[in-house]
Amino acid sequence: MRSSPTRMLRIPFALLLIASLISSCTRSFDPGQGVAIEASTTPSQAPGFIPGPTLRALAQEQGRWVGVAVAPQLIANDPVYAGLLARQFNMMTPEVAMKFEVLHPERDRYDFSGGDAILAFARAHNMAVRGHTLVWDQQLPAWLTEGQFSRDQWRTILQEHIQTVVGHYKGKLAAWDVVNEAFDDNGSLRNTVWLRNIGPEYIALAFRWAHEADPQARLFYNDNGGEGLGRKSDAIYALAQGLLQSGIPISGIGMEMHTWLDGPPKPDDLAANMQRLARLGLEVHITEMDIRTQYSTQPPAAKLADQASMYRGIFSACLAAPNCKAFVTWGLTDRYSWILAKTNQPDAPLLFDEQGLPKPAFFSIRDALMGK
Ligand code: G3I
Repeated sequence: MRSSPTRMLRIPFALLLIASLISSCTRSFDPGQGVAIEASTTPSQAPGFIPGPTLRALAQEQGRWVGVAVAPQLIANDPVYAGLLARQFNMMTPEVAMKFEVLHPERDRYDFSGGDAILAFARAHNMAVRGHTLVWDQQLPAWLTEGQFSRDQWRTILQEHIQTVVGHYKGKLAAWDVVNEAFDDNGSLRNTVWLRNIGPEYIALAFRWAHEADPQARLFYNDNGGEGLGRKSDAIYALAQGLLQSGIPISGIGMEMHTWLDGPPKPDDLAANMQRLARLGLEVHITEMDIRTQYSTQPPAAKLADQASMYRGIFSACLAAPNCKAFVTWGLTDRYSWILAKTNQPDAPLLFDEQGLPKPAFFSIRDALMGK
């Protein structure tokens, strides 16, 4: 990808300027375009250094993103965390910083500081950012959930929120999770605040409003438990098909992939689901993967070995599917995983341990990328 210095001297300055402008406009949206930080040029004493090729350099060669969910405070305050992040990954998702409650704490006030800090770090390290999430029924501000609004007012509030937020980040994100977790496991629409106050059309409206605010944005529906085959993934498929038939722009499906040792999905079901979505012309991003270890009774080393082979199975299914463009885990190190707060039990769901050292799961993914 790099030109030799002598050849570059012969290229007229104007051409170089145009090329660099084009590359700075496109780099966040195409994992094949970015310049990864090469392990060989990084001093081995740098925080979070791991010998050998980086995940991002290997993924980029295959036109894929590898990413993690992040918190801006950790990027700012933990050098091992920030070092690992920039060296190994070419994508980030704000774990909380772009949720409704954080971005829009009062009806007439927005706070983009956390999301903007993540974007600044992404720009400095040539990483892409997935926006998460415009419409969800969790982490909503009290002014909204406790307010008394008519149906028209609910629509206006959601439209204004989507258009302000998508407008603020226009042209800067690789994708948006527009609607999050709208289905129950049986495939019926979940009884969310949005369904109750706007009606089932809130989903199509959200995609339409997001598209109006940024016609180039890649818009995703994101959910958990519909990764393999079954009633939930059928419902997600039908939703996407219906949106496309009505001319409503949807680019892809986010598959969260929160699972546990011996948990779903079966890699064959995942592959079949990705294939049917590809036939609709849709991309797939694995958006929130983690694998809980706490329910297994095996010794710790066996748990980590099983976890590594499960990560590899899912990751390999993604690599084998041309429409699976991103593989994102829900957190970087086991120390900060949401699973600890959620279950109040020790766990080790991610690719790096509490000290930020790579686990067998990290090496299983890297081997898969190296074809080993
Ligand atoms: O930041 C405050 C802190 O100031 C306060 O002292 C503390 C007390 O409870 O709360 C902190 O906020 C917490 C926040 O995470 C930041 O860590 C919230 O209580 C807590 O509810 C919030 O949980 C997040 C959850 O979504 C709800 O937004 C998790 O971190 C986050 O991992 C989780 O992520 C979701 C995805 O967005 C969608 N898919 C499922 C996934 C897991 O639930």
